[in-house]
Parts: sequence; C-alpha cells; structure tokens
Amino acid sequence: MGRAGTLRTTLVLLVCLGSSPVRALKSQLFTRRGGSPSSSGISISYKTLYFDQKIDHFGFLEDGTFKQRYLVNDKHWQQPGGPIFFYTGNEGDITWFCNNTGFMWEIAEEFGAMLVFAEHRYYGESLPFGHDSYSDNKHLNYLTSEQALADFAVLIQNLKSTLPGAQNSPVIAIGGSYGGMLAAWFRMKYPHMVVGALASSAPIWQFPGMVPCGDFYKIVTQDFARSGSNCDKNIGMSWKAIENVSSTASGLQWLSEEFGLCTPLKNRNDVAGFKSWLQETWVNLAMVDYPYEANFLQPLPAWPIQVVCKYLSFSHSVPDDHLLHGVSQATKVYYNYTGSSPCLNTSQTATGSLGFIGWFYQACTEMVMPMCTDGVRDMFEPEEWNFQAFSDECNAMFGARPRAEWARAVYGGKDIAAHSNIIFSNGGLDPWSAGGVTHNITESLVSILIPDGAHHLDLRYSNDRDPPSVRAARALEVNYFRKWIKQARKHTHKATVFKMH
Ligand SMILES: *[C@@H]1O[C@H](CO)[C@@H](O)[C@H](O)[C@H]1NC(C)=O
Ligand SMILES: *[C@@H]1O[C@H](CO)[C@@H](O)[C@H](O)[C@H]1NC(C)=O
Ligand SMILES: *[C@@H]1O[C@H](CO)[C@@H](O)[C@H](O)[C@H]1NC(C)=O
Ligand SMILES: *[C@@H]1O[C@H](CO)[C@@H](O)[C@H](O)[C@H]1NC(C)=O
Ligand SMILES: *[C@@H]1O[C@H](CO)[C@@H](O)[C@H](O)[C@H]1NC(C)=O
Repeated sequence: MGRAGTLRTTLVLLVCLGSSPVRALKSQLFTRRGGSPSSSGISISYKTLYFDQKIDHFGFLEDGTFKQRYLVNDKHWQQPGGPIFFYTGNEGDITWFCNNTGFMWEIAEEFGAMLVFAEHRYYGESLPFGHDSYSDNKHLNYLTSEQALADFAVLIQNLKSTLPGAQNSPVIAIGGSYGGMLAAWFRMKYPHMVVGALASSAPIWQFPGMVPCGDFYKIVTQDFARSGSNCDKNIGMSWKAIENVSSTASGLQWLSEEFGLCTPLKNRNDVAGFKSWLQETWVNLAMVDYPYEANFLQPLPAWPIQVVCKYLSFSHSVPDDHLLHGVSQATKVYYNYTGSSPCLNTSQTATGSLGFIGWFYQACTEMVMPMCTDGVRDMFEPEEWNFQAFSDECNAMFGARPRAEWARAVYGGKDIAAHSNIIFSNGGLDPWSAGGVTHNITESLVSILIPDGAHHLDLRYSNDRDPPSVRAARALEVNYFRKWIKQARKHTHKATVFKMH
C-alpha cells in the first residue's frame, strides 16, 4: 500500500523481527481465500494437466522450462469448434480460482464450452525454479504479467493444435481482479488468441496518474457510511482513541485484552502495526461485502459490514474505552464469526502462502498502485502516497525498484479505445472499482456496473440472495459472449470458403 507511516512500521518490522515485512503492502492484495460452495448444486470436476513453458519468453539466454499447471473440464464441450472459456489465472493457487468462479461452471453447458483454468507462473504449483523460485531477485526475475500473458498464449496455441476439434474453437478470456486485468490485457495483446474478454473487478487504471490515489479508501468509507448510521464517523474517531488509550502501559494492556490479542501490544511500533491491521480489516470487509453468508479468509455473515456497523452506531461522542469496545466487537465479527478464534493475531497474513510474497514482488516492480488517505473524504488517518518511500521499501525487501510508468507504457493507460470486445464489470461496493473502467469506451469496450456488488460478485456462483443488478450483469455478459462467438464463426466460415476457391 505504500503509505508513509505503515512503511515505517514495515521497515521496523523488517529490521527488528525479521518477519515478512508485508503489512504496508497488504492492502494491495486483491483476493483472499475461501468462497462459498456451489449453491446451484453443480459439481466441480477437472483434469489437472501440466504444460512445459519457457521460463523466459522474451530472451534467449535462459532456455529452461517449467511445468505450468492448468485445469480442464470438457464435460459439456461440443466438438468440433465448441467455445473455450479460458480463466487467466491470477496471484494464487489455480484450484481456488477454479472452485470460486461459479459463473463459468454455470454457463458451460448452455454454451457447449470447455473450461480451462491456467495457473499464473510463480503461484500454486507453477513454480519456474521449484522451491528456489522466491529465493532471490534473480529467480524472481521472470515473474511479470507479460510472461504470464505469453504463457497463456503459448498454452492456447498448443491446445488448439493438439486437441482434436479445438482448431476453430473461439476462446474467451475470463478473469477477476488481477486475473481480470490479465483477461483484458490478453485480449489487447493477443487479439488473435481470444475473441473477447470478461474483466471482472479489474483495476487496470489503478496506476500512477490515472485515477486519484484517494478513491480506493473513499469507497471503503462509503461502504461503512451506507451500512449503518455514524459507522464511518466512529471508525474515523477510533484512531485517536487508540492513540489516547495507548499512551499508558495500563492502557496498552487494556487494549490488548479488549481485543483478545494473541500478543499484547508493548510499544508505539506495536500500536502502529495494530492500526494497520485494523485498516486492513476494514478494507477486507469492503471487498467481500456479499449479500449472503460466505467463507473467505474467515467465515462471514451476509452483508458483513451491516453486522459490523451495529457495534459502531454511537450518535454522540462516547468515552474512548466505550468506542474501542465497539471496534473490538466489530473486529470480532470478521475474525471470530464462528467463535473458534481463541485470540486475534495482528500479524496474521491472509494465507501465509507464497502467493502473497509473489504479489508484493509484482507490486514492487510493475504493479505500482498509488493509494492515499486524507481523513476527510475517508475514515482513515491522513497519509500521502510516497513513491520514494515505497520504492525504498521494495528495494529493501527484494533488491528491486518499482517502475512507475511501465504499466502505462505497456498496457496503454487510458488510451485503449483501439481495442475491442472487452467487458469491464465493476461492483459499486468494491474499492477496486476506483481503478476500474466504469464508463463505456466504445461499442465493444463496455462497462457493466453492479451497484450493490462487492469484489467480482458476478464471477461467483449464483445465489438466491443475489441482487437483481448482478443477475442482470451476468445476463448481459452471456449476451456479449454469444455475440463474440457468432462474429468469430462468421469469420471462420469466410476463411474456410476462401480457402476452397
Ligand atoms: C477445489 O475443489 C477440489 C475438488 O472439490 C478440491 O480437491 C480442492 O482442494 C479445492 N481447492 C481449493 C484451494 O479449495
Ligand atoms: C482523546 O483525548 C483527547 C484529549 O484528552 C480528547 O479530547 C478526545 O476526546 C479523546 N478521544 C478522541 C476519540 O479524540
Ligand atoms: C471467539 O468467540 C468464542 C465463542 O464466543 C469466545 O470464547 C472467544 O473468546 C472469542 N475470541 C476472542 C478473541 O474474542
Ligand atoms: C500469528 O500469525 C503469524 C503469521 O501467520 C504466525 O507466524 C504466528 O505464529 C501467529 N501467532 C500466534 C500467537 O498465533
Ligand atoms: C454500456 O453500454 C451497455 C450497452 O448499451 C449498457 O448496458 C451499459 O449499461 C453501459 N454502461 C455504462 C456504465 O453506462
């Protein structure tokens, strides 16, 4: 996330504890684990396959290969020529994305489509250098979005040439979050490989100079403001209350006990870390404010922010301990919904898996996403975006410095009107919509808004409690898919006729 105060905390953590200095970057994570199982009763089954990919697609010195994992389900595939829905894997274990992208499983039959889920290099099992993949910046050097897109292209080319009946299959790229960015970019860079792309909750404009850095946290704040009276205001006051209370040793002890922390807070650094952890909790809640019970990092109730806000509705100023009791109750909705957490762990990362370190590396190289708060339009303590501090932190962590302008140079920034056939869907509750495409650019670069949707709700399984806006979005997406497939068939037909003459 790269905000000055948290950067300081992070550096201190790095130096003092030797633990993974990930706190400041945590808010840049997109995807947390979990997800609700299918409520439509569709069972997931797939073949797990591996494909030999070049470690480096763009240079000729490193000629090694690694096994890229991909999952295939062809139960409903109509040969020959049935479409292929291709999930452009993002920063994690591909089986998890596969299991949580119910939308693809639900539409496979009506399209007679094959489903392919391709794992992103450096995540899950697709490790270019096995256990050494993360050992240093030399091994991490091939972790880029460009290499990942090239993996997808080479894989599709191979599937089409080796699978009987796939030669003329129209392929549609589908992805959510960073996977949505990859889906969109894949259509832009490899338009001959896919007839279109669905980019769900894809913040392709969350890069320097494209959107205001404060919009992300503004949306988080709006979610709390609309979910209970005074909810955002009380959270806004809690930071000062924490400062007040933690000015004494007895206050620190009280705070640690009130929150049931596994490790009591001892000093100012701990308090800074505690505040970052709370801030991350509010961001997480905004991303997964789903209309039904769902299980991601932790199981959560339906509309979790409304539940959280019940504890934060004080309409007049209350003593600090009273306010912080409300905050601790609210926090426990997130961390202790099932009542099975004996204590709250402020250094808990969302999964502790390799995926997170991989994403930090990407954020520290190509995926520079400025974020800031001002404490006025948002409920957080003011903190400016400080690229230099961010860069220094990255350098300390990875021995690599971010390239702020590269994303624009390689993917076009706001100048993407020359491309075609991409759907950008965004949820109004999702803070990542701040960096998303939320207006129509051309007739075939369309934006679909889901006002009461959180992070890529449209890609999840359908649910009885889905709001009408997400049902409508999915219906529209399916219509575009049909249109693209029809267009592609026409072209294929023409090409065939041409060849015969
Ligand atoms: C995904 O589902 C499969 C099949 O049900 C299961 O074996 C696998 O563990 C799941 N993966 C994750 C990450 O939940
Ligand atoms: C914090 O302490 C100051 C000074 O005692 C007090 O005015 C304020 O109400 C306290 N709490 C908050 C939330 O600002
Ligand atoms: C979590 O809930 C259980 C059951 O209500 C309770 O015993 C436990 O103390 C709670 N944990 C924390 C950290 O409050
Ligand atoms: C807190 O979480 C961290 C990171 O997952 C872990 O290493 C540590 O053991 C946990 N501490 C406790 C007391 O559970
Ligand atoms: C973009 O155009 C489509 C098709 O006309 C429409 O359904 C959609 O609502 C438009 N999106 C926005 C953000 O106006």
